[in-house]
Amino acid sequence: MTVRYNPVSGKIPKMLHGADYNPEQWAYEPGILEEDIRLMKLAKCNVMSVGIFSWAELEPEEGTFHFDWLDNVLDKLAGNEIYTFLATPSGARPAWMSNKYEEVLRVGPDRVRNLHGLRHNHCYTSPVYREKVSIMNRKLAERYSNHTAVIGWHISNEYGGECHCYYCQDAFREWLKVKYETLDNLNHSWWTTFWSHTYTDWHQIESPAPHGETMVHGLNLDWKRFVTDQTLDFFKHEVKPLKAINSDLPVTTNFMEAFEGLDYVKFADALDFVSWDSYPTWHDKDGDIHKAAWTAMNHDFFRSIKDGQPFLLMESTPSLTNWQPISKLKRPGMHLLSSMQAVAHGSDSVQYFQWRKSRGSSEKFHGAVVDHVGHEHTRVFKDVTGVGEVLDQLDLIVGTAVNAEVAIIFDTENRWAVKDAQGPRNQGVNYEKTVTDHYQAFWKNGVSVDVIDMERDISKYKLVVAPMLYMVRPGVGEKIEKFVKEGGTFVTTYWSGIVDENDLAFLGGFPGPLRHTLGIWSEEIDGLYDGQANRVMVDKNDLGLSGEYIAYELCDLIHLEGAKALAYYQDDFYVGRPALTVNQLGQGKAYYVASRNKQPFNNEFFSQLIKDVGIKKTIESKLPEGISAQSRTDGKNDYIFLMNFGEEKQVVEIPKGELIDLIAGTSVTENVELSPFGVSILKRKKQ
Ligand code: GLA
Ligand code: ZN
Repeated sequence: MTVRYNPVSGKIPKMLHGADYNPEQWAYEPGILEEDIRLMKLAKCNVMSVGIFSWAELEPEEGTFHFDWLDNVLDKLAGNEIYTFLATPSGARPAWMSNKYEEVLRVGPDRVRNLHGLRHNHCYTSPVYREKVSIMNRKLAERYSNHTAVIGWHISNEYGGECHCYYCQDAFREWLKVKYETLDNLNHSWWTTFWSHTYTDWHQIESPAPHGETMVHGLNLDWKRFVTDQTLDFFKHEVKPLKAINSDLPVTTNFMEAFEGLDYVKFADALDFVSWDSYPTWHDKDGDIHKAAWTAMNHDFFRSIKDGQPFLLMESTPSLTNWQPISKLKRPGMHLLSSMQAVAHGSDSVQYFQWRKSRGSSEKFHGAVVDHVGHEHTRVFKDVTGVGEVLDQLDLIVGTAVNAEVAIIFDTENRWAVKDAQGPRNQGVNYEKTVTDHYQAFWKNGVSVDVIDMERDISKYKLVVAPMLYMVRPGVGEKIEKFVKEGGTFVTTYWSGIVDENDLAFLGGFPGPLRHTLGIWSEEIDGLYDGQANRVMVDKNDLGLSGEYIAYELCDLIHLEGAKALAYYQDDFYVGRPALTVNQLGQGKAYYVASRNKQPFNNEFFSQLIKDVGIKKTIESKLPEGISAQSRTDGKNDYIFLMNFGEEKQVVEIPKGELIDLIAGTSVTENVELSPFGVSILKRKKQ
């Protein structure tokens, strides 16, 4: 296992701290750049993302380029040891371009072309847009890729969305031809004889449309795959001229929380490092503890994209957002806590949107480091400076790894398919929540988890959990079987092993390719109305699990085919049927959780399994409610983050050992007291 990765840039082997910086909005205000730099230094910022939405400034009319202002910004930042991620500006284009070349404008699923406006709304296929992007990116690379300030490329901004124009339709058909070769193959994979949907010419195929086809699941899936591939292709098109000029300058693009429109994992090889924008709705009605687990899972997902390599938190808000239904301020402590949560899970940076609050337009009330008041004497500025001061103490953590023995499968294609299935629960199959509920049981126990897709090598893990693995792509069933035979522990649930990669149901009995590993046959699944429940009673077992749990929403009716039942249903016509099973296969075990159970089951079951499998916890003592314990390691030392997401003061029992508090610089012998939203970062020599 790699335990020490290189920093994103050798120019600055430090924790990065900074923001999106849009000085072009303030060009009319003399001295603002100098004032911003003064404030950046005060807040201990060492990096800015520049030029993200600057196309209209950089190329105010076609073929006329203005770089002087950007020269000045980068030179002044460099002169003050503030580095930059330089953006390519494709996230929003100038009006002259939309005006002159209609094809750059995106066409919606209803086949209506957008007017000029907003952002993130170009066609990924349009030859004109690609050409314009190429010219711009080449010019930026020629001018800046060897600039002292620049440490990496911030490609575009939050790629997303789809275009249904004629270029995209053609590209989709070409993509399908490569995939299926013949229409017969396509028709079979999409099961088009149903409702007489058989295609007899490639030109009959159209992307899904609200007034056209929406119910051929194979088409829906392939369209989504195509959108990912086309966006990735566009990304590579952006990167090409940059790498041609300086191949050493790393590239990233900022991803979004649990974004469903793209299969981000496919970007892994094309990115030098992963970065993402995290905007949790802290203090909302769901409660901070659930939110913290959800955010932690997102961090783990992004860290896992490049197999554990640290990522960057590219954006977060220093105070509030202005696009959620309610814009709630972060309570005192939460800014440092949520920033450190990112670092605990593998981020080598804390960055914000944005540096200086805009005066007008749609984000004028979005949190920023420098408020409209214009000076540093604000609560938010102090919070940001506080984070800068702590990050300064954490340079020794840069590049360190998170060592996870557990993997949870959260697979984007599975997510698309299980939600589109028209199956046992159309009013919310709740895939994301289900995965999070499983994740939360590990989070509560202070166990590190990788969040991976089903393609990943799982041989290095001790325990793999695959909630609702509805789709099982080729080779995955075999891989899981091998993993178990060789001593791994595998857990899956109801509504797994149902369809193949084309969303065609497995014939011959569910859970299809997992049936032998699990030693069960799932005959039927019952969808429960909201408010209905069953009870699950645990029987004798080696895990030390006991008691009765509540099942809701989905109950699978299974038969044992070699597995042992550990729990039984208590109600309804399936009373007495197995609800939890284990199958010993080779050196390992495979568990099947037949019903969706309320959280106490997940917490108890996985706590016992963690003991049984011998999974290492960050600290061995029991964590109080709301406390998260995560660690990074360089092989010699562990860096332990104790985080209190609750509103009560808590005390964490610290097992004996040599521990140093990295913020206070003192050694720790006593238990650690954490104030509400408090955080403590400890260094422990590896035993
Ligand atoms: C996204 C964008 C930013 C900004 C923020 C506001 O992350 O990338 O440009 O709009 O949201 O939260
Ligand atoms: Zn298009």
